[in-house]
Amino acid sequence: MSLLEKFDRYPLTFGPTPIEHLPRLTDALGGKVQIYAKREDCNSGLAMGGNKLRKLEYIVPDAITSGADTLVSIGGVQSNHTRMVAATAAKIGMKCVVVQEKWVPHYDAVYDRVGNILMTRLMGADSRLVEDGFDIGIRQSWENAIQSVRDAGGIPYAIPAGASVHKFGALGYIGFAEEVAEQEKALGFQFDYIVVCVVTGSTQAGMIVGFAAQDRADRVIGIDASGTPDQTRAQVRQIVDASAALVELGREIREDEIVIYNDYAYPAYGVPSDETNEAIRLAARTEAMITDPVYEGKSMQGMIDLIRKGVFPDGARVLYAHLGGAPAINGYSYYYREG
Ligand SMILES: Cc1ncc(COP(=O)(O)O)c(C=O)c1O
Repeated sequence: MSLLEKFDRYPLTFGPTPIEHLPRLTDALGGKVQIYAKREDCNSGLAMGGNKLRKLEYIVPDAITSGADTLVSIGGVQSNHTRMVAATAAKIGMKCVVVQEKWVPHYDAVYDRVGNILMTRLMGADSRLVEDGFDIGIRQSWENAIQSVRDAGGIPYAIPAGASVHKFGALGYIGFAEEVAEQEKALGFQFDYIVVCVVTGSTQAGMIVGFAAQDRADRVIGIDASGTPDQTRAQVRQIVDASAALVELGREIREDEIVIYNDYAYPAYGVPSDETNEAIRLAARTEAMITDPVYEGKSMQGMIDLIRKGVFPDGARVLYAHLGGAPAINGYSYYYREG
């Protein structure tokens, strides 16, 4: 039985996302660990999709019943999340205000013109650039934006960064775990590990709760891309506890069931290292799978490094959760000017 039966869901995605084998990436990494990807990046027709839509599917019903007319959210300049909130607002016929903070010390001539922010503006969102730096917590700039909607006579519905500390923020990725279990039945085998990028926390937190119901939460391998790992881990813990209670999981999640590797976020959130860029190139050149320098490039780097170090036993099947994010690569053109 699904843990999600009592919750309303407003469909924004196509349905279950495909799982594909990545044979050329598998071979390039020695062939001892079989690599698969679950393509959350291909999950919807809404503005190129991505992980936030799975979360927003469980938030939209609450937004609609609240009587709100404006979704208000926050992220960095090249935020995938604010693109997805803008897309959702357009799709359900609401207005949208998004605060875009200067989370990334990265200077590309068109960083605030292309990719995510371009699409956000195109979909009619009121995108407000502010100078504040990176922080996954609750932000004054976001509270100011919520108040500004009220001051203008609107009714705001507040969605925090990454839709993570929202009470329904992790439900979508509890659904992911249930979906994987269904797909495994059809495939005839189980995955040994699931690799996932973590920053604001509700993607991995949802997976942990969902896979805990299948007794394998510790097989969810988080790769931190925030560069503020203590804050991210604390936020994952908090979301896990709140969500486990919300869905009545029936038990506490142990600390050893929250697995996060902190070794790959350097030099900073949003800035790729040479190793990140090597990982991005390898996935692109073996599988034409495009990952970005902020999130998925770092989890790809982490997965590659863990495979090379032999952390996963021979014969293991690893499922890489591709959460989206490719539009941001347009803001990093100088890194890839020669490929
Ligand atoms: C493409 C992509 N990957 C990974 C993440 C991390 O997910 P979460 O913020 O739920 O930890 C995000 C959002 O922050 C994202 O946009």
